[in-house]
Amino acid sequence: MNTDTNKNLPEKIPQHVAIIMDGNGRWARARGLPRLAGHRAGTENLREILEASAEFGIKYLTIYAFSTENWDRPEAEVTGLMRLFTTMFKRELKNLHENGVQLRHIGKLDRIDTALQQQVNEAVELTKNNDRLILNVAFNYGGRDEIVHAVREIIRDKKKPEEINIELISKYLYTADSPDPDLIIRTSGELRSSNFLIWQGAYAEWYFPSAYWPDFGKEELRKALFDYSERDRRFGRVFTGDA
Ligand code: IPE
Ligand code: IPE
Ligand code: MG
Repeated sequence: MNTDTNKNLPEKIPQHVAIIMDGNGRWARARGLPRLAGHRAGTENLREILEASAEFGIKYLTIYAFSTENWDRPEAEVTGLMRLFTTMFKRELKNLHENGVQLRHIGKLDRIDTALQQQVNEAVELTKNNDRLILNVAFNYGGRDEIVHAVREIIRDKKKPEEINIELISKYLYTADSPDPDLIIRTSGELRSSNFLIWQGAYAEWYFPSAYWPDFGKEELRKALFDYSERDRRFGRVFTGDA
């Protein structure tokens, strides 16, 4: 680990960073390549960002890998993406485990191929005691679907109306064991949430770099952290300088 680069960091590091990894398709098109080549480049970049996140002292990283709406893409792209996830799991799991990464899945596994489901479950089990970096993989994830799922579970558990509050709902979400994200990054210049952490992100700071995901490397992440460190998070209160 390069401790020199660590000196060039802001004091205030967000505990939980979430990323909408967007722009793989446009990255590929700009190079005259098929969209899947962009997704491949995106997974390469993920490795760099994972390492940088751990090095920068981020404790929770949540990545949007596949949304509940992404099923509506052409079948060949969906199949290609699933294959890519499978290969990536096989190739990267050992390395992640050795580097103290704890893998968690948020979303639903039901529509996923059973072999891949099993891989995800095994990876979660294998890494469950790691604590250097918690990596939440939002895979077949949608914020609205997550809330529907939570409401169903709450009803199934026969909770009374008086018991329903913000804390209880948070505990029924897929992210029950993670704090809310402090910073949400969406690459590629798109300015929307696309159904990502819509409950948990209520008070997150947002950052929208124009870089496509495969080009959003370690130094781009550092810039995001500096930008975040300048923000004044008021949570409805007054500017801290006025208090
Ligand atoms: C994000 O890149 C990756 C996934 C949604 C899986 P896109 O595939 O959305 O890339 P663009 O937005 O078309 O450039
Ligand atoms: C959001 O990106 C989903 C992921 C990055 C996995 P999309 O590219 O699917 O979002 P829209 O369709 O542009 O809103
Ligand atoms: Mg996109």
